[in-house]
Amino acid sequence: MTIKSRLCKDLGLKYPIFQGGMAHISTGRMAAASSNAGGLGLICSSGLSAAQVAEEVALCKQLTDKPFGVNLMLQSPEIDDIVQVVLDNKVPVVTTGAGDPSRFMPALLAAGVKVIPVIPHVRAAQKAEKLGAYAVVAEGTESGGHIGEMTTLALVPQVIKAVNIPVLAAGGIADGKSMAAMMLLGAAGVQMGTVFLVADECPIDDAYKQRVLEAADTDTMVTGRGTSHVVRALKNPMMQKYAELEKQDGTEDERNALAGGALYKAVHGDMEGGCIMAGQIAGMVRGGGTIGGIMERIVAEAEETLGTAGNLLGE
Ligand SMILES: Cc1cc2nc3c(=O)[nH]c(=O)nc-3n(C[C@H](O)[C@H](O)[C@H](O)COP(=O)(O)O)c2cc1C
Repeated sequence: MTIKSRLCKDLGLKYPIFQGGMAHISTGRMAAASSNAGGLGLICSSGLSAAQVAEEVALCKQLTDKPFGVNLMLQSPEIDDIVQVVLDNKVPVVTTGAGDPSRFMPALLAAGVKVIPVIPHVRAAQKAEKLGAYAVVAEGTESGGHIGEMTTLALVPQVIKAVNIPVLAAGGIADGKSMAAMMLLGAAGVQMGTVFLVADECPIDDAYKQRVLEAADTDTMVTGRGTSHVVRALKNPMMQKYAELEKQDGTEDERNALAGGALYKAVHGDMEGGCIMAGQIAGMVRGGGTIGGIMERIVAEAEETLGTAGNLLGE
């Protein structure tokens, strides 16, 4: 028995799995590997100029003939030009984060792009549906990176109840049982980030991969609660210093000096001064391998879990 979801038919995927956009990490090469593996690879445009996004899209197109997408960071200073790159290259899917996609919806929809906002609460999902979004990714606070307040388990069913478009679940999913659980809740698929950090094709430094592989369940921490810049990452001197500054009411300039470019530093191996973004599920990520291998492992376990779910029922 194989896992079924309307996402597969609508987006041309083998598996209803998105490799989430990850700044400085999910390049055209990594996205192509995810799409070739049967999921949807997403190139992250965050931190890139429009010209760099165009290069990543071109590389991705060279490496795969499967559908892929671009993750738009709506507060990017070059967002208008980046959207134009998406349109010029007929990129079939975009996910959006960090802002309001309204301004770009008419052009994207007119070009047939499937727009999938990443949302942290029901209100944002309803707004996305009204704007014509094809689906939403409901992302829980367990996730790595920039996060909202709601947990995946509380968020996903409430969003599913509130909208009539497909809902993908994100945050805290790294194995087939969790994927199956999300689909039992009614999710049309899942988006994962942390589990792909350790994949062979993921371009982060080996030290970063090692930190994820060795992480325990309680090894992440969150900074920026109460601001618009809430981040989950593995505990390290940089995150601890940032939290200290928050406690001592350090100035915004001091905090920005510490956080500026910090993910980039971690990606390039700085485990002390970098921001090692990862989700709470890092504690379960113990094996790497290829993106294809990771996806197949997760899907096989999800199919087995769903296939035997009836055993939980008695007479
Ligand atoms: C290192 C890292 C960087 C991320 N960067 C972004 C980003 O730039 N834009 C975005 O929309 N989501 C970003 N995310 C979120 C992922 O796309 C995905 O939704 C999330 O990782 C899912 O939760 P999980 O980490 O528990 O798998 C990032 C996640 C990680 C782990």
